[in-house]
Amino acid sequence: MSKTSPDHSPPPFTEIGYHAAAATTSHDEAARFNFIGGVYRQLAKLAPGNRTAYSARVAPKLKQDLGRAPADRHEVHRGMKRDPFWQWWSALRRNNMEYRWAAGRSVVLRQLDALNARVAALNAVAPDRLKLDASVKTPVYIASVDNHLMPGSYQTEVLPGDAFAGANYDCGGLFLSTVGFFGPYSDGAGRGLAGWIKDNLPDFKPRRILEIGCTVGHTLLPFAELFPEAEVVGVDVGAPVLRYAHARATALGFTNVSFAQMDGEALSFPDGHFDLVFTSMFLHETSGKALPRILRECHRVLAMDGLNLHLELPAFHETSDLIEQCMREWDCYYNSEPFWRTLNDMNLGDQLTAAGFARADLVSFGLDARRADGSLGGAPMANASAAKRRQTWTISGAWKRSPSA
Ligand SMILES: C[S@@+](CC[C@H](N)C(=O)[O-])C[C@H]1O[C@@H](n2cnc3c(N)ncnc32)[C@H](O)[C@@H]1O
Repeated sequence: MSKTSPDHSPPPFTEIGYHAAAATTSHDEAARFNFIGGVYRQLAKLAPGNRTAYSARVAPKLKQDLGRAPADRHEVHRGMKRDPFWQWWSALRRNNMEYRWAAGRSVVLRQLDALNARVAALNAVAPDRLKLDASVKTPVYIASVDNHLMPGSYQTEVLPGDAFAGANYDCGGLFLSTVGFFGPYSDGAGRGLAGWIKDNLPDFKPRRILEIGCTVGHTLLPFAELFPEAEVVGVDVGAPVLRYAHARATALGFTNVSFAQMDGEALSFPDGHFDLVFTSMFLHETSGKALPRILRECHRVLAMDGLNLHLELPAFHETSDLIEQCMREWDCYYNSEPFWRTLNDMNLGDQLTAAGFARADLVSFGLDARRADGSLGGAPMANASAAKRRQTWTISGAWKRSPSA
C-alpha cells in the first residue's frame, strides 16, 4: 500500500491512497486533479456567501414580491437562482464536477488496456469472490441518469468486460469532491459506521454483512477490516464497478470480502441470511418504486435480531432553515441527483415500517466520517452549506425483531 503512484507523480492532495488496481497519474494529470481539488476547497469556503446573498438581497426581494416571507425551499430557490452569487457559485461548482469526470475519463482511457489487464490479473487471484451475472438488468433510474454527472454512470463499458466505470469513480473522485474528508482511501463513511457499531453495540457481532449498492467498496472494506471474522458481501448492478471493487479489495489485501452482481430489489440470498444489511449514499440514487422493494429485501434477508442501516446526508427537513434546505437541494437541481429530492420528502421510518420492521425497533442517529487513526473527519464538504456543521450523515434503520419479543 504505497502512498504514491509508481510513476512518483504527486497524487492529488499528495495524500490519495494508491493500490495496484488504480489508474496511475502523470505529473500533469495529478496537477490537474490538484487544481480541481483546490476549486472544490474554495467552493466549500465560499458556500456561506450564498447565505449572505440570501439575507442581504434574496430574502428582502422575495418578501417584496410575495408580500410575505418565502414559505418553503422551492420559493427560496426561485429567488436564489436570480442572484449573481448563487449563479456564479453554482456554475463554477457544476463546471468543476464536469471537469473532474472529464479529467478522470482521460486518465483511465489512456491506460485502459493495461488497467483492465491488471484488474483481470488481480481478479484471477480469487475468482470465487466475484460473481457477475449478465442477466441482471440495469434499473432505469441508473441507466437513464448520469448520476452526479458521471458519464455512463456505473454500468457503462468502454471495452467489453472492462473496469472503466470503477476506475474513473475511484480516480480522485470522492477524495477530490470531499476535499480529502473521507481519508486517503475514501473510506471515512465505512470507518464511521463500522466504528459506531463497534463502539455502541459491543454485543452485536455480525457473522454475515451485506452492503447493497457497494460500487467500488469504499464503504464496505472497513467492515471487512473491523469485523475480520465476518463474511462480508457487496452487491451492485454495475459489472464494471464490481470488477474494479474486487480487484481493489484483493490489491489491498482483503480475503474476507466478496462481490456479486445483483439487483437490490430482488436479491438472490435466502431469507434470514445476514446479521447486518446496510446501504451507504445509495437510497438517494434509486426511485420511488425501487426504494420500498429494496427495504422489503433488506427485511427479508436479515436474520432475526439483525440490523438494517442506511447512511445518507441529513434530510432537508432536519432543519427548518429554508436557505440551508435550498443549499442541501443543490445536487438535485445541478448535479444530476433527481431522486434525492423525493427521498428527502419521504419519511424513512414510515418506509421501513411498511417494509416489515416494527416502529419500536427503528433507529436513527448522526454520524461523522472517521479516519484510519480513529480521528473524526473535520473539514466541511463542498456541499455542506453550513460551514460549522459537524454531523456529516444521518443513519436511519431498524432492528429485525420477532413479533412476539
Ligand atoms: C452512490 S453509489 C453508492 C456508493 C457506495 N455505497 C459507497 O458508500 O461508496 C450507488 C451505487 O448503487 C448501485 N445501484 C443502484 N441501484 C441498485 C440496485 N437496485 N441494486 C444494486 N445496486 C444498485 C449503483 O450501480 C452504484 O454503484
